[in-house]
Amino acid sequence: MTSDAIGIHDLSFATTRFVLPHTTLADHNGTDIGKYHTGIGQRSMSVPAADEDIVTMAAAAAAPIVARHGADQIRTVVLATESSIDQAKSAGVYVHSLLGLPSSARVVEMKQACYSATAALQFAIGLVHRDRSHRVLVIASDVSRYELDSPGEATQGAAAAAMLVSADPALVQIEDPSGLFTADVMDFWRPNYRATALVDGKESISAYLQAVEGAWKDYAEQGGRALGEFSAFCYHQPFTKMAYKAHRHLLGYCGHDADKGEIARAIADTTTYNADIGNSYTASMYLGLASLLDNADDLTHQAIGFLSYGSGSVAEFFAGTVVPGYRSQLRVAAHRDAITQRHPIDYAKYRELHEQSFPDDGGDYSAPRETAGPYRLAALSGHKRIYEPR
Ligand code: COA
Repeated sequence: MTSDAIGIHDLSFATTRFVLPHTTLADHNGTDIGKYHTGIGQRSMSVPAADEDIVTMAAAAAAPIVARHGADQIRTVVLATESSIDQAKSAGVYVHSLLGLPSSARVVEMKQACYSATAALQFAIGLVHRDRSHRVLVIASDVSRYELDSPGEATQGAAAAAMLVSADPALVQIEDPSGLFTADVMDFWRPNYRATALVDGKESISAYLQAVEGAWKDYAEQGGRALGEFSAFCYHQPFTKMAYKAHRHLLGYCGHDADKGEIARAIADTTTYNADIGNSYTASMYLGLASLLDNADDLTHQAIGFLSYGSGSVAEFFAGTVVPGYRSQLRVAAHRDAITQRHPIDYAKYRELHEQSFPDDGGDYSAPRETAGPYRLAALSGHKRIYEPR
């Protein structure tokens, strides 16, 4: 590891109390389960309890990082989300408070659909370049919610991924250059007055594939690595089959054989967690990284390609190198527990949670105690969200 290395020092994720298996959704809407399990590559979706949201998940994801490394050197917290709870106040400020972080810190929220955690990561790297003693807590937290009985419904999910970005990282060194791509498309968006996203599903798939091409083209022009140098590719995964589609597209664009076995070798380990959690928007690609590090054979010194996509659209391709000794830092048991310890719900309970929201009259409303996580959204009072440790 060179002494100027900067990257991901620690990575932890959290998800929800509840899970809806796709078999339950298929039973309700009469869909052949093969469409979900094979066609889109999803087995179940995380569903937030009534007292969970992006703040409680973000704090739950970041708490083990603060417990392991302390809070002293964290002078910046960046929370990336597209399911924000407030138009003005950053969700990260609630997280900063729940975690007891020092007041001598800046906290900010970032948005550009599913892409913004990557902007947050690059922002963090820039700050660490300025001062190598500085550590940045980057948290991606989202609840993916589409209309009931819409095509997007089966691709819902919820999770938060927290990363500590530092000099001399213990997990993944992030490299220059990045390949960048922006195009003004309406493939997915959520106006401020809507609780569910609007999406043109087919358009979003083709916009994603165009962005893969555009970001890779720029990456190559900036002098990035050759395609053959990567041992795995971490793509944004709105549904896990999308990573396979994207990689096949990239191989074709670069004139490589799109061999099925080769694609599976490059992608499969990145999809394990997302297949059970569903789309976690900003967190999705970083859950893919957690899945890869936790489940693949030794990746020491190997290069990983990252393709971050956010509808609307912005994409970035960049590379990371896995650091020697990374395995001793992983949180494999906690990550697997977060998935296996979720409580399965039936369709009626899922629907009730999907349709639920606090009234907006400024009154006092408490939330039922449901979460098994360390923090909960206790109430809404005078338009203020009240959080508490559980
Ligand atoms: N067994 C196996 N595969 C099946 C199947 C069955 N019984 N029935 C359908 N499939 C396959 C289809 O062939 C298709 O595969 P392909 O894409 O490789 O051709 C896949 O399952 C999905 O079927 P499709 O009919 O296209 O599904 P849909 O019209 O319900 O839409 C999405 C799928 C992803 C567009 C929709 O879920 C959506 O809008 N999602 C939200 C937006 C999103 O995630 N966008 C991604 C980019 S950000």
